[in-house]
Amino acid sequence: MREAVSPQATLCSLICGLVLVDAQVPEAATLLEHREEGEVRLAEVRRYVLRARNARLGLFVQIGHHDWASQISHCLEEVLSATDEPTGVHLNFVNGTAPSDDEVEELLGYVQGKHSKANIFVTNSAGAAADMPQFLMQLDSATRGGVDYDIVLKLRVSPRDDVQQLASQALCGTRFHVRSVLNAFADRPSLDLIAPAGTIVDRKTSSKHLAPAVFNKVLGNRSWAGPSAGSAKGVRSLLLMNTGNVGLNEAEDLATYVAGGSFWLRRQAEPLKTAVAAIPRLAPLIQRRDEEARSLELALECFVTTALRLRGRGLATMPSAPKVIAMYYPQFHQVPELEKFFGDGYTDWKALEDFKGQGLRKPLSEERGGLGFYDLMKRQVRSRQANLAKQHGVHGFSYYHYWFGGEGGHNKSVMWKVPYQVLHDGQPNLPYFFTWANEPWTRKFSGQAGEDVLIPQTYGDREAWEEHFEHLVQYFKDHRYMKIDNKPIFAILRPQLLEGKLEPMLKVWRSMALQKGFSGLYILSSVGRRFYEEHNYKADLLDGAFHNAPSCRDLCGGVASNRDLFLVKEPHQYWGAATGFDGRVHGNSGALHVTPKDFQHALVGSFANMTAMPQRHVPENLFFVGSWNHWAEQHALEPDETYVFGYLQALRNALEHVKPLELEARHSGSTTQATA
Ligand SMILES: *[C@@H]1O[C@H](CO)[C@@H](O)[C@H](O)[C@H]1NC(C)=O
Ligand SMILES: *[C@@H]1O[C@H](CO)[C@@H](O)[C@H](O)[C@H]1NC(C)=O
Ligand SMILES: *[C@@H]1O[C@H](CO)[C@@H](O)[C@H](O)[C@H]1NC(C)=O
Ligand SMILES: *[C@@H]1O[C@H](CO)[C@@H](O)[C@H](O)[C@H]1NC(C)=O
Repeated sequence: MREAVSPQATLCSLICGLVLVDAQVPEAATLLEHREEGEVRLAEVRRYVLRARNARLGLFVQIGHHDWASQISHCLEEVLSATDEPTGVHLNFVNGTAPSDDEVEELLGYVQGKHSKANIFVTNSAGAAADMPQFLMQLDSATRGGVDYDIVLKLRVSPRDDVQQLASQALCGTRFHVRSVLNAFADRPSLDLIAPAGTIVDRKTSSKHLAPAVFNKVLGNRSWAGPSAGSAKGVRSLLLMNTGNVGLNEAEDLATYVAGGSFWLRRQAEPLKTAVAAIPRLAPLIQRRDEEARSLELALECFVTTALRLRGRGLATMPSAPKVIAMYYPQFHQVPELEKFFGDGYTDWKALEDFKGQGLRKPLSEERGGLGFYDLMKRQVRSRQANLAKQHGVHGFSYYHYWFGGEGGHNKSVMWKVPYQVLHDGQPNLPYFFTWANEPWTRKFSGQAGEDVLIPQTYGDREAWEEHFEHLVQYFKDHRYMKIDNKPIFAILRPQLLEGKLEPMLKVWRSMALQKGFSGLYILSSVGRRFYEEHNYKADLLDGAFHNAPSCRDLCGGVASNRDLFLVKEPHQYWGAATGFDGRVHGNSGALHVTPKDFQHALVGSFANMTAMPQRHVPENLFFVGSWNHWAEQHALEPDETYVFGYLQALRNALEHVKPLELEARHSGSTTQATA
């Protein structure tokens, strides 16, 4: 359950009270002159392990919420897996959320188990001091302790909300995405800050540059009215320390903050050094917890971003990490229906071997490190698939699910053995969900009406829907079965074929899902060639639609999606990419030839478009690649004799080089944001 966040409270804690600096020579700093004596009260150190003084990346988390473990574990795991270089984890518990000694030990064990060169610091901070000063204090004490980093991630953990969810998906959603961030900092020396797409706010940011969560929940559908009067002195003092008088008259235009307060930052960024250096003097003041202290806290929240812009340094944004879902064809083993229709021992391998034309990809042999013409009943084959997938950035599989109401097969459930094995022997050990290939089974595997139908679809009635659901629910209960907000994801390739039965069937299913303890079902349709001509259902019956790229092709942007399709009315729209298409093996027409190079190029473009469209809203950025192993149609990520591991490597390269989008460098008065 997500707690609703009062927009007012969030607004206050996120918007710095920067008072506009007038063009005259500013007066001497005032707040900074409260140089009260006395040591900074650094946080109480609970435990630490120090293994590397100069480490590449450090994760700094302020934990002000009791449900912290579930919120940071994913990010922690991905950051620690992103690199072998020394990495630091600094967890500071504030607001009385101190963990027990056992929890601390468990954390230490976890981090050490994940990374052999990890620093870890667990601290408690007394009081409820706000987020940014706590972060600066952590950095200050790390620096005094002789630990330094090149790049740091500041992550705020407060009660879960959409802005925070966006932050953890965009900043540490996958290890590949974390590598993209590190690659960007390495490639662009002028870049100092990376925030989630649609969270960098200034007075002139329009809604189309904001993530919906920021616009709706933080700003309450308004644009930021600009800084309030309270904390002018602090910011002005800090700016003076940082830039001298340079550009102070532009500060009004450039006043900027990151909604949600989570971002990656270059440790050597000048304003960050200034802020950290100021902390020992500011700490006693911040701890007073009066109005003035509050103003200073808020001022610190936007000082760094504003000063970076004054200095003309790069600020950029990243989209939510693409989570690649590869479509998986559970054939390639002995299936009674295949043998009945196509002869003993038939699988698509035979069709591939018998094909006389030119230019087909065939699976890479085992001798060359591939999977060969495999048999999916072998657990070892499925386990190798899982390893290849994980290493190259495939988050999960979507298994085609075959369920027929009509007569003609041995069973309503066809090709059920692969998912059954997934459940019972655990391989592939990867998140998954089903895509119901709900077309009639035709001789050319095309699902075209009017063709030689081998098993028709009838879609049945309530009793049949219940039976189908009972079959599915054993999978839904699997911890690997993917869910969104506790709703199992289930895609239907062509929901339009169910016609009038779609609505009552989904109603029955959704209520059965509730009875089984889920919060409902998350139903997707696919956008393919026939999507528009056949679209005959109310789009809001479904939760989303995904671009089924091998079938969607030109409609969706070619090899990879590059935009939301205007005509898709389902609430969420997921993008995708194709590794190719060739209908010839099954006697069909149509071809889309895609080399690994083309594939990578298209992915890079697609991810760049995501970054440029922060207003696009999806709860998780699932990205559908067609396919993992659809060899007969020639769309497969699996290694082949021609390109070897080319497609998998292309995928990983693209995922590790998602390019952050830089805000256009601003000069006084200029307000446009870069869009490409
Ligand atoms: C701690 O609590 C205070 C007051 O409720 C809040 O303003 C602050 O943001 C919290 N700190 C964190 C890191 O969540
Ligand atoms: C902003 O508008 C959206 C719809 O346009 C609405 O769902 C949301 O609740 C609004 N938010 C606020 C805080 O008014
Ligand atoms: C029919 O499919 C179910 C799985 O849905 C399986 O348990 C059963 O053994 C199958 N029956 C036959 C005859 O293959
Ligand atoms: C999206 O991608 C297309 C094709 O790569 C490109 O022409 C277009 O400019 C991109 N749009 C944005 C907003 O980046």
